[in-house]
Amino acid sequence: MIHNKLIQLARYSYWDKEIGALIVDAKHLKLTVSQRKLLGLLVENLNRPVHGTLIFDEVNHSLDKEFNEKSVRNLISSLRKFAPMIKIVNIYGGYYMLRKDSMYPDLEFKDYLYEVLDQSKNAIVITNPNEYDNPIIYVNSAFSELFEYTFEDVMGKNCRFLHDDDIEQLAIDEIRKAIQERESITVNLRNYTQSGKILYNEVTISPIFDKKNGKLKYFLGVHKDVTFIKTLMRQLSSLH
Ligand SMILES: Cc1cc2nc3c(=O)[nH]c(=O)nc-3n(C[C@H](O)[C@H](O)[C@H](O)COP(=O)(O)O)c2cc1C
Repeated sequence: MIHNKLIQLARYSYWDKEIGALIVDAKHLKLTVSQRKLLGLLVENLNRPVHGTLIFDEVNHSLDKEFNEKSVRNLISSLRKFAPMIKIVNIYGGYYMLRKDSMYPDLEFKDYLYEVLDQSKNAIVITNPNEYDNPIIYVNSAFSELFEYTFEDVMGKNCRFLHDDDIEQLAIDEIRKAIQERESITVNLRNYTQSGKILYNEVTISPIFDKKNGKLKYFLGVHKDVTFIKTLMRQLSSLH
């Protein structure tokens, strides 16, 4: 039986809020004092972003010490290494967030569906608009191949990292509007792979609704690399 002083963070992983301990597979993990303070703060703010300065203050308990971002980053990575089952995501702007696995209960839905998606030749991404900043909750293998990012690299991030700081694109405004209005859209974007290669991406984004209650559940993105068409068009136009 699970007592309510235990908060589940991931499969077989719990935070004991009474004594501030991490329990994995029924064993207490020995955290350092700083790791324990950090995790305690993140658990208090489960699924909400916490700014690095707050973490720094919590860990140092001395307000006159100057904020040191690197020490926060090091502490986060030490905790990630020590307890890899815990999902701490970085959020743009110096925030960190502890994500609870069971936020994705629906992703346990039918393994066979995963297999189908995973074998699709089109790159596919699924996001959860009911969570902060519409994070990615699934990408298939074709997505990883196309953009050179693994599932772990992108999990929990908003898709905007794909256009990086190349934001002067009308298509981005169109997507923002379509998402707000919960409509589907097909646009062409300049995106970038992990290694920095430019990629012309024709993406179709569709809202997915729960048929029973009409609530918005996900967004589905299907991506097509149209770089070769762009290149061809450029070559053709240079012939004239
Ligand atoms: C399912 C889905 C797929 C998306 N795919 C891409 C993509 O492939 N490339 C991209 O640059 N932006 C993509 N976006 C758009 C960004 O996530 C974001 O919505 C866009 O940058 C506008 O919002 P912003 O102004 O908050 O950045 C996608 C969004 C969703 C919901």
